[in-house]
Amino acid sequence: MDKVRVVGIETTCDETSVGILEFYPKKLREISKIPDFRELSLVILSQDFHSLYGGVVPELASRAHLRNIAPVFKEALKKAGISAQDIDVISVASEPGLPGSLIVGVSFAKALAQALSKKIVMVNHVEAHAISPLIENDFGFPFFSLIVSGGHSSLYLIEGIGKYRLLLKTQDDAAGEAFDKIAKLLRLGYPGGPIIDEMSNGASPLFQFPKVESENFSFSGIKTFCVRTVKRWIGPFPIPEFLASFQKKVIDELIEKSLNKIKSVAGEKREKIIVVAGGVARNSYFRKVASEKEKEEGVKFIFPSMRYCVDNGSMIAFLGGLKYILFGETSPFYRDIRPTGILKAKGGIDHDYDTDKKRNNS
Ligand code: KG4
Ligand code: ZN
Repeated sequence: MDKVRVVGIETTCDETSVGILEFYPKKLREISKIPDFRELSLVILSQDFHSLYGGVVPELASRAHLRNIAPVFKEALKKAGISAQDIDVISVASEPGLPGSLIVGVSFAKALAQALSKKIVMVNHVEAHAISPLIENDFGFPFFSLIVSGGHSSLYLIEGIGKYRLLLKTQDDAAGEAFDKIAKLLRLGYPGGPIIDEMSNGASPLFQFPKVESENFSFSGIKTFCVRTVKRWIGPFPIPEFLASFQKKVIDELIEKSLNKIKSVAGEKREKIIVVAGGVARNSYFRKVASEKEKEEGVKFIFPSMRYCVDNGSMIAFLGGLKYILFGETSPFYRDIRPTGILKAKGGIDHDYDTDKKRNNS
């Protein structure tokens, strides 16, 4: 086939999104050698109302997906200038995520595949984040992928599509979750990441945090330190300085641990590429420090543009399309959602995903 049109459906948490990509299987990209493609459309609907509750309410999230999925799909078709019949493959994120939200996306995808007599590919949301920087950039394998979102902070070695090695994982709270909890502690709103990013802009990071002892990514100690500091404080609390210190500690921790781990991975030659994906990759301090570290450490950081940092249908279409074209992978209709999805890596090392995506509001 000269063209393969893939629709990607994303409903794992609080974004309802549909992206449509057109792949050209016979035309390979110069460096990565993956099939070339272009994005025909991407529609992302963020469920902003959760901010009223200080976190994602799973029941409300699934109901909103139910209301929005068909209109979002129709808008994506309209923007792409194609009809549903023009789609060749349906890719859907079936793991990990909130169960009710996953059910909406997967049921919609299955119904679509049945009605149109098309193939379906069910994919892992974290895997889609991990390779998403390849959507906008062309670079070679292997590379490192640091996934930092509301449910994950993990570092992978990506040896090829489907070949992954987990190097560092979430010990307790994920990076985005830590941002959300500290914003909640100070009653600043939800999601905490963008609020803290903005409020700490220009403020001095005056607070000293204790050292994190864990080998993996661990942020619960930082959270406990924040809670104690806020409770014991007498007088007006210097919120911007405190937030700047917290943000610096979390991001420095992510960068330092990743760089140390990467150095210890044997057999690595040439320039080391570290892609950063997931919601926390939007952080402005993160982007600034990463670019400063590049020369010093002989690495190159690649951040996706903002719309590919949030949960989006194009990254789902991208992963599903590659799996279909490269490996002929399709999923049977009876396959269920996997809220705490385990990734089975082809030719790589299988591993458990460290956490389910739930945001507990503790
Ligand atoms: O990848 P994502 O959209 O959803 C998940 O898969 O979890 O990530 C959402 C997370 C939230 O915890 C949010 O607070 C965080 O990403 N986030 C940020 C920023 N923007 C979003 N964290 C730090 N700085 C930001 N600018
Ligand atoms: Zn995500």
